[in-house]
Amino acid sequence: MIEVVRADITTLKVDAIVNAANAALSGGGGVDGAIHRAAGPELLAACRALGRCEAGDARVTPGFRLHARLVIHAVGPVWDGGTNGEAAMLERVYERAFALAREHGARSIAFPAISTGAYRFPADVAAEIALRVMLAHEFEHERVVACVFDDATRGRYEATLKR
Ligand code: APR
Repeated sequence: MIEVVRADITTLKVDAIVNAANAALSGGGGVDGAIHRAAGPELLAACRALGRCEAGDARVTPGFRLHARLVIHAVGPVWDGGTNGEAAMLERVYERAFALAREHGARSIAFPAISTGAYRFPADVAAEIALRVMLAHEFEHERVVACVFDDATRGRYEATLKR
């Protein structure tokens, strides 16, 4: 079962949380800013040591002061009208995050709604893609959490899962 949880992702007690990062892994606003604030400055130092991560790909760091042991920094696509491969790239970034979670032995994992904030990916299409990939991988983990930050996203996720 995928759990749809409305929360600040930094408060979740899971092995791995996924960050909606940028290609420079330099921290930012939104969920990225919240994760860096909660994890402490060691997180930025660890990200700097990794260098860049192109859109569609992901990298792992420790969680430092977070409850989560791992942060999977996933770089989603910036929405550019939809004809630039954004949907395939969003699917790929969720797949990469699951692959890294498996590789690092994470039994529980929480995802934010990657690309749906600053990167402007339409929320309804993003929800379909996110949940499709989560449903394909839920059997690999004890817990898969779809972490939403507002009621509109929660409603969208729950409706999509019902379908
Ligand atoms: N916990 C869970 N979800 C959150 C939190 C939080 N603390 N803060 C924001 N969100 C939600 C937003 O409501 C949105 O639905 O995360 C989703 C993704 O929004 P963004 O954080 O803006 O991520 P994204 O659209 O992928 O843009 C990435 O934003 O801050 C920068 O460095 C980041 O440049 C990168 C870009």
